[in-house]
Amino acid sequence: MNYDLTIKEIKNQSIKKLLEKNIDIYSANLDVDILLSFITKIAREFILSNDKKILSKDEYCHYQNLFERRFNDEPIAYIIEKKEFYGHSFKVNKNVLIPRPETEELIDIVINNISSNSNIVDIGSGSGCIAIILKHLIATYNMAAIDISSYAIDVAKENALSILGNSSLIKFINADALNYTPDKKFDVIVSNPPYIAKSDINILSNDVKNYEPSIALFSGDSGYEFYEKIHNRLDILLTEKGKFFFEIGYNQELNLRKIFHDKYVSFIKDLSGHSRFMIGAI
Ligand SMILES: C[S@@+](CC[C@H](N)C(=O)[O-])C[C@H]1O[C@@H](n2cnc3c(N)ncnc32)[C@H](O)[C@@H]1O
Repeated sequence: MNYDLTIKEIKNQSIKKLLEKNIDIYSANLDVDILLSFITKIAREFILSNDKKILSKDEYCHYQNLFERRFNDEPIAYIIEKKEFYGHSFKVNKNVLIPRPETEELIDIVINNISSNSNIVDIGSGSGCIAIILKHLIATYNMAAIDISSYAIDVAKENALSILGNSSLIKFINADALNYTPDKKFDVIVSNPPYIAKSDINILSNDVKNYEPSIALFSGDSGYEFYEKIHNRLDILLTEKGKFFFEIGYNQELNLRKIFHDKYVSFIKDLSGHSRFMIGAI
């Protein structure tokens, strides 16, 4: 087997294979550059100017192994175990949802609508991206984060330590938020909950449906189970003037207006013009 391949030759071979799988040229290029950068420790911007470099046998074997995973649809973030979110690098693995850009918008909405001494809970904290960035931006927030998965809580604590310097700046709670009663009510709920209907599994791409945790994606047959149940618990979780901020599916506004009919709710569009955030008060 010939291991003496240059970065340029490896790139050409790999991109050709990804294109045969109908991955677009931009994503194929990006994925291959990210993997090569990860393996060689050459910054991604400098991969092109280093494309005559020959990978060592170890580097080449490691690359082939990671490329094979990508070729089998595993998301690049799980392969390199990190994802950028709000300018910070978050550890991710198969136990947590990969943070999405829309969720960065949810953070801005929350900050613009609450006071700096709020007692906040992030429900379904996953990698901890929402709770950690909120606490990083406004140190005076009193921040808690709940997740039903103890593995997710472990990842979130690692991220809190690396980004905030101290994981105890956030109170992490491993619990089912739909059965949880706090000692002291919160002023604010922020949440990007599971909201996909189980019946929609086949419209999800392979990288999502085969790799991201089901518990982070699906909410019953309708996709509304979490919202229906949390709606019934708002009085238990929130103070009298409490506010809530939820990320929602792009086609869920109408049904959520019905479920939250007895609350003051409004909906905000994301940068692509879809109604993606529900904010409200009890
Ligand atoms: C869509 S992910 C969001 C993760 C992270 N907040 C983000 O925005 O990337 C939903 C999270 O909710 C958690 N979850 C699902 N049901 C839950 C429940 N009943 N109580 C607490 N957490 C739950 C899942 O484990 C998952 O981490």
